Amino acid sequence: MQKTVKDYIRTIPGFPHEGILFRDVTTLFADPQGFRLCIDQLVAPHRARRIDRVAGLEARGFILGGAVAYRLATGFVPIRKKGKLPGRTIAQPYKLEYGEAVIEIHDDALQPGEKVLLVDDLLATGGTAEAGIRLIERLGAEVVGCAFIVDLPDLGGRRRLEAMGLEVHALCAFEGL
Ligand code: PRP
Ligand code: MG
Repeated sequence: MQKTVKDYIRTIPGFPHEGILFRDVTTLFADPQGFRLCIDQLVAPHRARRIDRVAGLEARGFILGGAVAYRLATGFVPIRKKGKLPGRTIAQPYKLEYGEAVIEIHDDALQPGEKVLLVDDLLATGGTAEAGIRLIERLGAEVVGCAFIVDLPDLGGRRRLEAMGLEVHALCAFEGL
């Protein structure tokens, strides 16, 4: 039978700490058929629409975002952890399981009115994605879709983004925490 994207994802129990089932997409990225299938499926809902830029969230969103941007024949914009981008940036804090983090985007990376597809590997609470969306919107650009490989529905990220009026696509879901 044909393998699905989900079949290529490895689950590692106990990482980064006990009780967590870590959904490891490196096995998907490393497989030629798996990676191609994943990129094709991420791109599929957006082929016929206008996308001016693909924005990827550090770190695994970079691996996907580059390939997705290439397929959509558009440019790629990185949203990075604080202190990594060399030019002038704007910053957005967001909540982690323990404490807070900050992500940044170059303040000239997007122009007002540009249509942006946001890409990351996994949607959990949606905190990272929401911070990325805020950055894009603060530059006056518009998020026309959010694309993930994995959705963890029990953590509520999809509901959170959909409540912001956003279109969310995920290639697979893992129930439970
Ligand atoms: C993971 C994952 C998403 C984010 C999802 O990244 O790659 O970016 O968490 O969680 P959320 O929906 O609850 O915000 P992580 O923060 O581990 O950083 P990394 O991608 O740089 O490893
Ligand atoms: Mg991440």
